[in-house]
Amino acid sequence: MRAVGFCAVLAGLAAVPLLAAATGPGAVAEAWSVPDIATLPDDAWGRTVRHGRDLVVHTADLIGPKVAVKSRRHARNNLGNNLDCQSCHIDGGTRQFGLPLVGAFAGYPGYRAREGAVGTIEDRVNGCMTRSMNGRPLPVAGPEMIAIVAYIRFLSTGRPIGSPTTGQGAGRMPELARAADPVRGRAVYAAQCAICHGGHGEGRAATDRRAGYAMPPLWGRDSFNDGAGMARLTNAANFIRNNMPDGTTWQTPYLNEADAWDVAAYVEAQPRPHMLHLARDFPDRREKPVDTAYGPYADNFAAAQHKYGPFAPIRAAAGVIKP
Ligand code: HEC
Ligand code: HEC
Repeated sequence: MRAVGFCAVLAGLAAVPLLAAATGPGAVAEAWSVPDIATLPDDAWGRTVRHGRDLVVHTADLIGPKVAVKSRRHARNNLGNNLDCQSCHIDGGTRQFGLPLVGAFAGYPGYRAREGAVGTIEDRVNGCMTRSMNGRPLPVAGPEMIAIVAYIRFLSTGRPIGSPTTGQGAGRMPELARAADPVRGRAVYAAQCAICHGGHGEGRAATDRRAGYAMPPLWGRDSFNDGAGMARLTNAANFIRNNMPDGTTWQTPYLNEADAWDVAAYVEAQPRPHMLHLARDFPDRREKPVDTAYGPYADNFAAAQHKYGPFAPIRAAAGVIKP
């Protein structure tokens, strides 16, 4: 995720000055190429990968809560909200620092601190099913899971285990020395976000007769729950900085860093569904990321500081490098 140099293509763009690593997105990635799904033949594999892509892009419309109402045949409806995977995994999971799924296949099975165990790619997808989608796990051998994993594997073509994939996650801009401020963030939200996400974070329904949203909700009943990755300030702030307003990329950030941290704090301060048994996460508390908004903690810092920062003192007190 850190600066790794420039590829000629990016260096050629005036929008990417060399200062970017220090003052820009806080993360610099080499340009990458994403395999072209259109080149896949219309055989069983090609159809499965395309179905997986469709499930990531139109999740709510294909397997969301409203589908169950429309047709009882969709017995496997396990989503708890009407988000799409693509609400967060931008462009079907192909965008650098837009929580890409490119390269993700090689990371599993792998140790996951949240579970304190080695988990599979299916476990990871189900992590987003139960948290980001506020639902229940997909059956591991069911057609939806097979298709989603096939798509992730396809997106990871040519990215073997251990090969660094730059541009993963949401980026990592410098942190603020102060706590992120939801009150300042509220003004940023009103000026930059409400036009799409609504005055109450409620989003806007799709207009193309599909279930789901044209603009996803950021809080409230139909949003991600408090155990989701996006419920961590660092993920949200970097995601917003590098991807919002919609159309923004890490090469063309729109908000300044303080505004991104503060508006993320405002979003995280709003009500959202609660996930049960969060205290079981990170069974080794020393591995809990500093910005996990729920306890128990290995330290005595207030929950509010874990939620809004500043995080440096927490890391310093732990005396270890923590995420
Ligand atoms: C509300 C936003 C959001 C939604 C919706 C969402 N995810 Fe995620 N997802 C995240 C975040 C944030 C992470 C990284 C979390 C972390 O590691 O802290 C992530 C991580 C992942 C990963 C691991 C990627 C890697 O590089 O290891 C996979 C796989 C994944 N999500 C699949 C899905 C699928 C499939 C769906 C739809 C069923 C989905 N996600 C819906 C936010 C979301
Ligand atoms: C032009 C419309 C637009 C604006 C303005 C905009 N967004 Fe978004 N936002 C979207 C869309 C559309 C998505 C879904 C991802 C996609 O399709 O690219 C999204 C996704 C998100 C997500 C992840 C999905 C979710 O439901 O949580 C967050 C968080 C978010 N936006 C925050 C913000 C914040 C904060 C601002 C203001 C700084 C903002 N957005 C401004 C359109 C917009």
